[in-house]
Amino acid sequence: MTETDLAEGFRYLPGYLGPEAQAALVAELRALLAEAPLYRPTMPKSGRPFSVRMTNAGSHGWLSDRQGYRYAPRHPQTGRPWPAIPAVMERIWAEVADYPAGPECCLINFYAPEARMGLHRDQDEETFEAPVVSLSLGDSAVFRLGGPTRHGPTRSLKLHSGDVMILSGPARLAYHGIDRVLGGSSRLLPDGGRINLTLRRVTRPAGE
Ligand code: SIN
Ligand code: FE2
Repeated sequence: MTETDLAEGFRYLPGYLGPEAQAALVAELRALLAEAPLYRPTMPKSGRPFSVRMTNAGSHGWLSDRQGYRYAPRHPQTGRPWPAIPAVMERIWAEVADYPAGPECCLINFYAPEARMGLHRDQDEETFEAPVVSLSLGDSAVFRLGGPTRHGPTRSLKLHSGDVMILSGPARLAYHGIDRVLGGSSRLLPDGGRINLTLRRVTRPAGE
């Protein structure tokens, strides 16, 4: 496994999860999505729908709707608590996060081939001491990484199925987004598309 440092605190671990573990996780996600279906979030204020569909696992699920961005303990449509974070995601966090407490949110983003995600920062958490750890599955995507300001320079790199990336330290609040998905680039998901799983710590652990 290689690791590339593209900016201080940004870590890219290509091929972190092998093909068999990816397939096992997809099977697990199929059951998870039956319990907590994907829904289409909307932008605060404008109410414009996201092109990405989302759901969550963990004690804290990230939501966006007209009332704003926030974390909530229940699925907005079913009213049920979010399912548990898949064990393999807990393991990835334990291996790479370098943080004494576990993740509380596993945001699950589904990108159809035409979906994208505009530049944003992950900044709805109580603590930024913990990193953001994300795993890509399925079709490759063009990821854009900026710095701490919206209009600063950016660079792009392709994220492939099984790749892990980490925003930590000085890069924890870096702007980032997905410019496009490269449809047909992976056969992991039978109907194509891309899944991104993002792990975050939401609350500040005692003692931090
Ligand atoms: C996100 O920033 O929420 C998603 C990033 C990705 O899809 O890789
Ligand atoms: Fe993000």
